[in-house]
Amino acid sequence: MEKIILDCDPGHDDAAAIMLAAKSPKIELLGITVVAGNQTLEKTLRNALNVVQWLGVDVPVYGGCDRPLVREKVTAGDIHGKTGLDGPVFPPLVRVPEPEHAVNFIIRSLMASDGEITMVTTGPMTNLAMALRLEPQIAEKIKRIVLMGGACTNGNVTPAAEFNIFADAEAAHICFTCGRPVTMIGLDVTRMVKCTPEVVERMKNVGNRASALFVDMMGHFCKTQKALFGWDGAPLHDPVTIASLIDPALVTVKPMNVRIELRSEQSYGRTNCDYFGYCQLPSTADVAVDINVQRFWDIFEEGLRNYS
Ligand code: BDR
Ligand code: CA
Repeated sequence: MEKIILDCDPGHDDAAAIMLAAKSPKIELLGITVVAGNQTLEKTLRNALNVVQWLGVDVPVYGGCDRPLVREKVTAGDIHGKTGLDGPVFPPLVRVPEPEHAVNFIIRSLMASDGEITMVTTGPMTNLAMALRLEPQIAEKIKRIVLMGGACTNGNVTPAAEFNIFADAEAAHICFTCGRPVTMIGLDVTRMVKCTPEVVERMKNVGNRASALFVDMMGHFCKTQKALFGWDGAPLHDPVTIASLIDPALVTVKPMNVRIELRSEQSYGRTNCDYFGYCQLPSTADVAVDINVQRFWDIFEEGLRNYS
């Protein structure tokens, strides 16, 4: 059983990551910490609460940082809509966030641990970076950081940068250099995981609350990808992090030196991955370079079936 804290900015694919993590017999989800990213914190927090309430999941939800550490705030309303989770219509919200700040929860949980907690981030890395700055001793307590973010190849916000890193590159830099193992699940593999109409139909056939929510979410998510990029199917980035913990053989990783570009105007937020080792620098991250897509969808379907 892998103990994790899921730090996210729901977001359609973040919501799918919550779904997969919350009922997996392989994962112990200690808490969901929320950050501004795909939308404002107020909206991403509301979305996280709506999702756990809909799923009947008892995991505590903590609100975190409402802006990046240094740069100005950016959101991804073009992809995730005005609410950050356009598509599903939820019943009135009863669930409330925990009173503790997400950063304090992260620090408290890690300090009380024996180094067995994996930090999974599927949004800008602001909360974890803040926690590392506020209590540097947590670094040695982190088992591993598994993040959705970055790319060896092309970005999705600029030619150079992927959204989660672009939205707070300074935070990503702090996390990547904290000295703990980092697994970077970037666009190189998550772009391969396309939620096509066939996938949506397959998940619909699961026929429970979780699958109904997934289908509603994908209605919007797939429509925007079609309109923006002409793609038949949306890359379902964030749940790949969770699936890679459920089945460690799912993604193939390559250790490499990764540095976050902080100073360039054009390439701010790029994850500079020394794929071929030209710089002869030590590896700083295991970077996902391939994925068994078929297996991912099997894991995801199984994840939905856990709600039956
Ligand atoms: C990442 O950006 C967000 O829009 C998604 O939720 C995902 O975490 C993909 O670049
Ligand atoms: Ca996300």
